[in-house]
Amino acid sequence: MKSNLRVFKDAEEMSRAAAENFIAAAAQAIAERDRFIVALNGGGTPRRLFQLLASAPDKMDWSRTHVFWGDERCVPPTDPESSYGMAKEILLDHVPIPLDNVHRVLSEPEPGEAVSDYIRVLKRFASPPLDWPRFDLILLGMGDDGHTASLFPHSPVEATAPVLAVTGDYQSRPARRVTLTPLVFNSAQNVMFLVTGASKAGTLKHVLNQESPEQYPAARIRPADGQVTWMVDEAAGSALHSKSPGSKVS
Ligand code: 6PG
Repeated sequence: MKSNLRVFKDAEEMSRAAAENFIAAAAQAIAERDRFIVALNGGGTPRRLFQLLASAPDKMDWSRTHVFWGDERCVPPTDPESSYGMAKEILLDHVPIPLDNVHRVLSEPEPGEAVSDYIRVLKRFASPPLDWPRFDLILLGMGDDGHTASLFPHSPVEATAPVLAVTGDYQSRPARRVTLTPLVFNSAQNVMFLVTGASKAGTLKHVLNQESPEQYPAARIRPADGQVTWMVDEAAGSALHSKSPGSKVS
């Protein structure tokens, strides 16, 4: 695994650099494999990135882009808490992506049914011997408690299935969730974490030190043959005394 930490003055600069990374990952994947397979995240942090991508739709080839989600909250797509709904409203409605290239987690049926459906969808894009695609890029966030996607503290560390239904209690957000697991995250080519705000500083330090993956699920994300890039603002990075190898202050 290659890991890279980039610290930015603020969330705006981080989001602009994230948009550049996203566009570059798309160009590289399309040049090499003729398609770009990306998983988006929910929460507040990626919203500015989505706006920036939407404001320059011709900077990448959306017709060859396939969008998935790393996790979803089990609410209807029209609910303001839906991660798909948020991405649709801010990004997907503003770029020329074919409808068939948008692979959302069905959030209306029972979570068990949604899991089976998503496993089937992922299989259609499988990179053998995996039963799911080797994602070109996966976007992830991190909660103050160290959760990522819907992998919450003290959930089982060893994943045995690519998709799980879980219940997670965090900041009054919808608790019933469907999430990809480290089996999928850790087979990606690139994972890009976006982390902002002082409330995450202490946890970020524990995660980057690889402390307790049980307590800090973000520390479970270590793609064997891929690159993890931590994009953080100064507030989130304020507890990091020394930068890890390969880190860069932007
Ligand atoms: C979700 C994501 C979750 C999110 C973190 C960070 O809530 O949809 O699954 O993992 O990325 O909670 O959220 P913020 O970006 O809002 O801090």
